[in-house]
Amino acid sequence: MSTQAPLNHITLTRPDDWHLHVRDGDALRTVVPHTAAQFGRAIIMPNLRPPVTTAAQAMAYAERIRAAVPEGVSFEPLMTLYLTDNLPADEIARAQDAGVVAAKLYPAGATTNSDAGVTDIRKTYKTLEAMQRAGLLLLVHGEVTSPDIDLFDREAVFIEQQMIPLRRDFPELKVVFEHITTKEAAQYVREAGPFTAATLTAHHLLYNRNAIFTGGIRPHYYCLPVLKRETHRQALLAAATSGSDRFFLGTDSAPHPAHLKEHATGCAGCYTAHAAMELYAEAFDSVNALDKLEAFASFNGPAFYGLPRNTGTITLQRESWTPPESFAFGEAELKPLRSGEALPWKLVA
Ligand code: NCD
Ligand code: ZN
Repeated sequence: MSTQAPLNHITLTRPDDWHLHVRDGDALRTVVPHTAAQFGRAIIMPNLRPPVTTAAQAMAYAERIRAAVPEGVSFEPLMTLYLTDNLPADEIARAQDAGVVAAKLYPAGATTNSDAGVTDIRKTYKTLEAMQRAGLLLLVHGEVTSPDIDLFDREAVFIEQQMIPLRRDFPELKVVFEHITTKEAAQYVREAGPFTAATLTAHHLLYNRNAIFTGGIRPHYYCLPVLKRETHRQALLAAATSGSDRFFLGTDSAPHPAHLKEHATGCAGCYTAHAAMELYAEAFDSVNALDKLEAFASFNGPAFYGLPRNTGTITLQRESWTPPESFAFGEAELKPLRSGEALPWKLVA
């Protein structure tokens, strides 16, 4: 048993966020500064309306994001294309030339703005071949969409029905199983070999599905894939803190106007970018694994993507603080996860 005093400060190489939604227009001015204050780079999800499906659209979107980075802050958006049934294979070469690093697979109808998603993965095989050749990554929202499959089982069923055949057909395509939420996915990734990795959100490390229903329905804890049972949360925390280099940080911070979350058909997505590293520090600290945070947040992602680590550092301190209850979000309001509650860790430099 360790008798060490608890760590009260932790300094890390500047981390990256390998899964982020920043939306567009006025929303960028709220959310991009939050991410840029903590992270050196972020993988920008392409599920705008209409989705980002060409290299030219991705470059224009990157420029709009850069324009929202506060002066003097260094932050680089890493762009992705939205994979559709019709994304032509020759767009991949243009994407690569433009510096796009990945394409995102949303099964059609799986989540927010996914109507343009893939209806049958075999329709994308020519494009996936081009990606495998070019070294572009495939980022996967790993849930089946069939109404016959229980919502809580959709990730585990996806592994059997989609992920295993995909890996067999494209053994050297780098695949990131995004925002995994189950022990099945954690085990699958652990055993899947060097071309498969996974991102983990802070909220899936901190919460189980009870959070959605405590004292009444709590829409700000609703995201997709939905929070699961406590046994799954524990398996995810074990994976994140295991030291395996194939698990890394991806917040899936997904801002929505508060009135559309507090709604009869509330949107899926938790906003965590305002305090992302603080929330991860809390999760790692809960199992005395702060010493594993730097590899998870700052080393494993760049290694898998084949990019250099960031230079510079950030420092977190054990200090209670309460983030704002809401942020202006264009004309609307944005309520972060745990709005109005104190957090035990604070980014201080
Ligand atoms: C995301 C969004 O709002 O764009 N929502 C979510 O619940 N995570 C989409 C996604 O990543 O599934
Ligand atoms: Zn997402």
